[in-house]
Amino acid sequence: MADAGFEKVADLGDLSPGDMMAVEVGGEQVLLANVDGTIYACDEICSHAYAALSEGDLNGAEIECPLHGANFNVTTGECLTPPAEDNLKVYPVQIEGQDILVGPPGS
Ligand code: FES
Repeated sequence: MADAGFEKVADLGDLSPGDMMAVEVGGEQVLLANVDGTIYACDEICSHAYAALSEGDLNGAEIECPLHGANFNVTTGECLTPPAEDNLKVYPVQIEGQDILVGPPGS
């Protein structure tokens, strides 16, 4: 059984290594990223202005914002380069069979 607060957001088969997709969790827009076979979840909306990070480029664990080019680490949410200054929220991920589940941030 999934832990309380976790909900299924996608199938593992939908997200190959190096892929990203945007999903909604509890009304929040969340980015899923497959980094070398491990799924990570963080904010979909850039912390700088309003841009969808799933439309940016994923290089390894680093994502580049499509609007002004800030880089973030999708595994930690850490902001790596300006013009963004704030880190992204990260969300816990569980895999159950072929299901990708995401829980509330900070849990
Ligand atoms: S909106 Fe992402 S760097 Fe400006």
